[in-house]
Amino acid sequence: LDTERFIARLPKAELHLHIEGALEPEMVFALAARNGVALPYASVEALRSAYDFENLQEFLDLYYQATQVLLTARDFHDLAASYLRRARDENIRHAEIFFDPQAHLRRGVAFEAIMEGLTGAFDAAASAGGPTSRLIMCFLRDLDEADALETFDKARSWLDKIAGVGLDSAEAGNPPSKFARLFERARAMGLHVVAHAGEEGPAAYVAQALDILEVERIDHGVHAIDDPALVERLARHRVPLTICPLSNIRLRVYPDMRAHPIRRLMAQGVVATVNSDDPAYFGGYVNANYLAVAQAFALTPAEIATLAKNSFEASFLAEAEKRQLI
Ligand code: ADE
Ligand code: ZN
Repeated sequence: LDTERFIARLPKAELHLHIEGALEPEMVFALAARNGVALPYASVEALRSAYDFENLQEFLDLYYQATQVLLTARDFHDLAASYLRRARDENIRHAEIFFDPQAHLRRGVAFEAIMEGLTGAFDAAASAGGPTSRLIMCFLRDLDEADALETFDKARSWLDKIAGVGLDSAEAGNPPSKFARLFERARAMGLHVVAHAGEEGPAAYVAQALDILEVERIDHGVHAIDDPALVERLARHRVPLTICPLSNIRLRVYPDMRAHPIRRLMAQGVVATVNSDDPAYFGGYVNANYLAVAQAFALTPAEIATLAKNSFEASFLAEAEKRQLI
């Protein structure tokens, strides 16, 4: 059985996917036309050719610009439905999906529009045989904590549809400690907590996310590799990393896949998972990420299957739900 088919047939969960990062250039143009939004690109090809990034910030600038076409509940619905079709075709049984409310609220989009659109698409996919989805509300770490707390208040009436909170956007200079009160409040309300840490930032930010935010998973976390005691701690406590290999190459966190630490993290007992991050921008959905890692490190079928098994272990599904989906 060749590796590509083996990966395609494996049941998987995706735990690190920004729904705004699933906005394909074709949909940017379609929504711009539908909503009468002017774009600074002449064509789909011109936009796609701008997807050449030196670092995280260059990507984020384009990502936030493209989100400007998302205005109505229908837009958010169509975006989520499109991702979930792709996910189903890749045999993803469950997705835990980030969204960035602050990126939309500041443009005058109502919380209701975002939530009605996304949850409508989630419910439709679940009733049609899957994948199942949960929502993780991310806060932009380059804004201040007061803005995050205000946004959290606006989400109050939607919390029954939100599984957890996360932290994303520009990492350098925006340590987890900046959001201690926000995460304390989220934990007190019984929400799951995760954070991007150690993507461009140092291993110390991963340690802060554990010590100060008390997160259950680390998003990316690849720079933990620079601190052997931290790697040992992640392994011992089975704190999962939601690793996004193609993202890390496209944003030049590592020069090529052979230099990526995923294999070393796995060898040291870390619960590693493979995810797509922003698949419309980074050249591949989940199966392409698995394949890139499998090829770079000549992974055995058993090692590939462990990554998929980890994705369910690391999910927020109850044990009975996991057994049903695998
Ligand atoms: N927002 C969307 N994708 C992101 C990433 N890879 N890192 C930080 N923030 C993000
Ligand atoms: Zn991410």
